Amino acid sequence: MCRETVNSSEPEEPVLDIHEISGNILLGFNKDRETLLLLEILDAAAFRRFLLALSGRLTSIAEVLAFRRERRATIESGQAPQRSVWLEVAFTHEGLGKLIRSSALAEFKDTSFVADRLGEPVNALVLVAADDASELAGEVERLAREAAAGGARVLSIQQGARLSPRNREHFGFHDGISQPGIRGRLSDCPGDFLTRRENPDDPGEGKPGQAVLWPGEFVFGYPGQDPFASNAEGGIQKPGECSLLAADRSPVAPEWARNGSYLVFRRLRQDVGAFRDFIRRQASALGLAPALLEAKLVGRFKSGAPLMRTAHEDPALGTDGCANNDFLYSSSSPANNQPASGQCRRSTPPAPDLLGERCPFSSHIRKAYPRDDASRFVVGAGGRSDTESHRILRRAIPFGPPFPEGASPDGEERGMLFMCYQTSIVEQFEHIQRQWANVVEVRRDGIPAELPFGAGVDGLIGQSPDPRQRQFVWKLPELGLENGQPAVRLLTAPPFVVPTGGGYFFVPSLSAVAQMARGEL
Ligand code: HEM
Repeated sequence: MCRETVNSSEPEEPVLDIHEISGNILLGFNKDRETLLLLEILDAAAFRRFLLALSGRLTSIAEVLAFRRERRATIESGQAPQRSVWLEVAFTHEGLGKLIRSSALAEFKDTSFVADRLGEPVNALVLVAADDASELAGEVERLAREAAAGGARVLSIQQGARLSPRNREHFGFHDGISQPGIRGRLSDCPGDFLTRRENPDDPGEGKPGQAVLWPGEFVFGYPGQDPFASNAEGGIQKPGECSLLAADRSPVAPEWARNGSYLVFRRLRQDVGAFRDFIRRQASALGLAPALLEAKLVGRFKSGAPLMRTAHEDPALGTDGCANNDFLYSSSSPANNQPASGQCRRSTPPAPDLLGERCPFSSHIRKAYPRDDASRFVVGAGGRSDTESHRILRRAIPFGPPFPEGASPDGEERGMLFMCYQTSIVEQFEHIQRQWANVVEVRRDGIPAELPFGAGVDGLIGQSPDPRQRQFVWKLPELGLENGQPAVRLLTAPPFVVPTGGGYFFVPSLSAVAQMARGEL
């Protein structure tokens, strides 16, 4: 029996193959602990036997959903919640080359995936996610033993663990607030959506501010976004081609890639001392509150409260899922309709910030997802539809011990095991890092602008040709007017985030892993 109703003006959405797609891609395992085993394949035949045993234990979307339903019921009935250990496996291009026929490999056309060569000969990655530390340790030990017996060498083991409070990263910010929603259904029922539609004013959004995108952006074999669909800001996107094909219908990935996804893994070291030092020095030089300067770097206060909605830290706003992502930069999306049951009641969304006076153009979230800015400002961008074709699903987890405020340097490494999923590494992860975060952008009606009039690089992750320093610009109306305009400051910062390893991987569907293991591909 179908219960949900649908908005008939919306296009029909595909049924997702929830028994085939790895649960970390579209849902996220989101466990307290996640460990990555990086493997080199030494003996392909032995490794296939290891893979066959592993293939029966991989975790699908269906399994994650069933577990979460049961867990909620258990918690509501006052019992101790159940725990689980979840697995995913992924391969580099070189790793696939050792396991499948060259004809089955030839149709991967993502140039970055094909060309990726690390210093270390990484061929495969096994992700182990668990609620409980000792269950995780047991599983990792077992897998490392089985992999070693199964023709592989364990190159490294990367251990991630949530900090406290749970959703914080090492600089102290609430992370994982803004993710794309996903079009697609869990069953034949017309309204059984993976992403619930909670914005009464826009059926094309999940929570207010969360555009729902065609699943082909993240999983092969489904329609994707059309970057040229319409430049109307916030307009409904038409589904593009199936993500296995380019616009000219030539394959970009083999047919067997259906229900799989590219995984980018980056081990990012965070220099918390350098971050705090920068904030302290700038606060004293500018005479502004440290919390405001931190927010200018990210675009959100530490609680998650967005600068577009508040000039002061506001913890209630930071955790309000109906409001903390409900903003655009260059226009406003008015709240009109009364919410239906299960939808958000919206407060008036903020006025636009066309000149970057509240939320700097260089702030991390404005760089990494410019929302409706793109049509006005970003070089070579085709507007909102184009921007929505450069999104990623982020699945990061911190590594290393916390670094409490006021503690003296402890020499420990800490940072983020950054992972994200997409169907084009070139157009998604790399576009964000190279075309947005690292670029000193055009920000004046399409006229190229040198610093200090450009935005500079992303305050958090932007990289400059000079690895020792990065520059970005803040307009600071808080300092008053200078020559009739809000004060502008060019800031120079050391790198706070340094990549120290990683790779580009492909996560096959559950049945494709079994086929690889049986030597059928
Ligand atoms: C250690 C490195 C990083 C830190 C500390 C960090 C931190 C954050 C924080 C605090 C947020 C705001 C919370 C949210 O909106 O979910 C955020 C958002 C985001 N980050 Fe990062 N991030 C890091 C690396 C990266 C990298 C490497 C990329 C991609 C190349 C990236 C892409 C994004 C995107 C797309 C958003 C969401 C923006 C939005 O939708 O408004 N981040 N990050």
